[in-house]
Amino acid sequence: MSRQLEKIKELIQLREKARLGGGEKRIESQHQKGKYTARERIAMLLDEGSFEEFDMFVEHRCHNFGMEKKKYLGDGVVTGYGTIDGRLVYIFAQDFTVSGGSLSEMQSKKICKVMDQAMKMGAPVIGINDSGGARIQEGINALAGYAEIFQRNILASGVIPQISGIFGPCAGGAVYSPALTDFNIMTQGTSYMFLTGPKVVKTVLGEDVTQENLGGASVHTTKSGVAHFSVETEEDGFQLIRSLLSYIPQNNMEEAPRVENDDPIDRADDLLNEIIPDNGNRPYNMYEVIGSVVDNGEFLEVHADYAKNIIVGFARFDGQSVGIVANQPKYLAGVLDINASRKGARFVRFCDAFNIPIVTLVDVPGFLPGTGQEYGGVIVHGAKLLYAYGEATVPKITVTLRKSYGGAHIVMSCKQLRGDINYAWPSAEIAVMGADGAIEVLYSKEIAAAGDQKAEVVEAKKKEYNDLFCNPYEAARYGYIDDVIEPRNTRFRVIRALHQLRNKKLTNPAKKHDNLPL
Ligand code: HXC
Repeated sequence: MSRQLEKIKELIQLREKARLGGGEKRIESQHQKGKYTARERIAMLLDEGSFEEFDMFVEHRCHNFGMEKKKYLGDGVVTGYGTIDGRLVYIFAQDFTVSGGSLSEMQSKKICKVMDQAMKMGAPVIGINDSGGARIQEGINALAGYAEIFQRNILASGVIPQISGIFGPCAGGAVYSPALTDFNIMTQGTSYMFLTGPKVVKTVLGEDVTQENLGGASVHTTKSGVAHFSVETEEDGFQLIRSLLSYIPQNNMEEAPRVENDDPIDRADDLLNEIIPDNGNRPYNMYEVIGSVVDNGEFLEVHADYAKNIIVGFARFDGQSVGIVANQPKYLAGVLDINASRKGARFVRFCDAFNIPIVTLVDVPGFLPGTGQEYGGVIVHGAKLLYAYGEATVPKITVTLRKSYGGAHIVMSCKQLRGDINYAWPSAEIAVMGADGAIEVLYSKEIAAAGDQKAEVVEAKKKEYNDLFCNPYEAARYGYIDDVIEPRNTRFRVIRALHQLRNKKLTNPAKKHDNLPL
C-alpha cells in the first residue's frame, strides 16, 4: 500500500472512531434510556445527506483527574451545517456518550465556531442539549466555555433564529443558553432543565422533589413557560423544528419563505357570522376562528399549554407567514394576566425582530384584577405586551371580534399603537369597561336610592351605556377602527390588508437599545 493510501486508511479509521463517540456500550445505554445519539439526531433533523461535520478530531486538553486517559475524538459534541427543506442551518448536538456530553473548553470552542459561522452566513442555529453540565474536571475553563456561548446567544438574538432542543439533562447555569434562544423544545420523560437539582433542593429547602416535577417538560410548558413545546418523541421534536423553521426567515434582513397553497384567498366562512353567542358572557372557541381564516386551517401553536387565555403561533395567509396573537374567551374569559402578557410580548417581539407580520384577534374583557396579580407585578408584565406592540414595526392587522375593554383594548394592538389596519366585527364592544362596572361607578347613588325600582334603574342605565358604547361604531366614528367587516369575509380582508402592507417601511428612533420593562 502506498504511503498516500495508508494515510487515507488512517483517516477513515479515525473517522469511524470519532463516529463511535464514547463507544458501543454507552451508545447502547443511550438507546436504553429512549434517547438517540447526537449523530442519529442530526441525521433525522437535516435533509438527507446534507450534513457536513466540523471539528471531528478535536480533543480536550485537560490533565486533571486522569483526564489524559479519557480522550474521545470530537470531545462530546457533534457540530456542523446542513439544510432543512434546502435552507442552510448550523447545528450542534451534545454527545452524552462522551463524559455525559459535559461542556469542556474545547466543546465550547466547537459550539462557538458554528455559532460564529451562522452569524456570518445569516442562517439559523439549532442546538441539541443533552449534557451533565460544566465538565467538572476542567473547572473554570468549563465555566468560561459556557460564558463564550451565552455571549454569542446574546449577540445573535434578533439577528438569526436560535432554536434549542432539550433532549436530555440540561442543568445548572447550562440552562441559560436555551433560555437566551428563541424557542425551547423538550421531550417528555427524558429531558429536564433546572438551575439546582433535587439533591440541592433537599439540602437547602428540605423539599423532596423529583427531577420530572422540578424541571420536566410538563413543568416548563405549563407552569414556568421556559419551554415553548413539549413533544412525546425525539422524532416529533425534529418534525416540529422543521415545521417551525418553515415560518421563519433565515435572518433579520430577510422575509419568511412564501409557501404556495390552493386555499382561495376569497374563501368566506358563513359559520363565522354565527360564532359569537347572543349572551356576551358565553365563551366560544378562538381556535375555530383561527382555523377558519388561515390557509388550509394550518396553525403552529407556540406555548400551547402555558397561559391558555392568550393564543400565539404561526400560520399563513395567501402563503405569507404571519404571527397570530388571539385572546381565548374559552379560558379565563380571555383575560390578560401576568403570564399571558409575558407570553404575548415574547412572541410579538420575535415576530417583529424577524419581519413576520402580526395578526391580532381581540376578545378581551380587560386585565385580571386582584392582589395576586398586583403583587406579582402585572403592571410591569402587562407593560411588556404594550411595549412589544408599540415598538413593533412589522405590518400589524387587528380584528376585534367582541370585547375590547380599557387598558386591554389599548394593549391588544390598537390604532394608536401604530396598528396598520384595525377591523372590527359588528359584534365588537370597544369601551372603557363593560356595562356592569360602568353603571356601578357612574350611578351607584341613584341605584341605591331607587329602592324597589333598583332592577329597572340598573337595566335602563345598562341599556343606555350599551347602546352608546358597546358597539364598534363609536370607535369607527373617530377612525380608530378602519372598517367594520362581516365576519365571514375576515380571511379575505386580512389577506387584502397584508397585500397592501407588503412594502411597509417604518423605523423607530435611533437608540443604543430600549429599556423594556422587565
Ligand atoms: C464531567 C460528567 C459530568 C460532568 C456526567 N459526567 N456529568 N463528567 N462533568 N458535569 C460523566 C459521568 O462521570 C459518566 O462518565 C458519564 O458522564 C455519564 O454520567 P452518569 O452519571 O453515568 O449518567 P446518568 O446516570 O445518566 O446521570 C446523568 C446526570 C449525572 C444526571 C447528568 O451524570 C449528573 O448528575 N451529573 C452531574 C450534573 C452536575 O451537577 N453538573 C454540574 C452542573 S453545574 P463515564 O466515564 O462513567 O461514562 C453547571 C454549571 C454551569 O453545569 C454554569 C454555567 C454558567
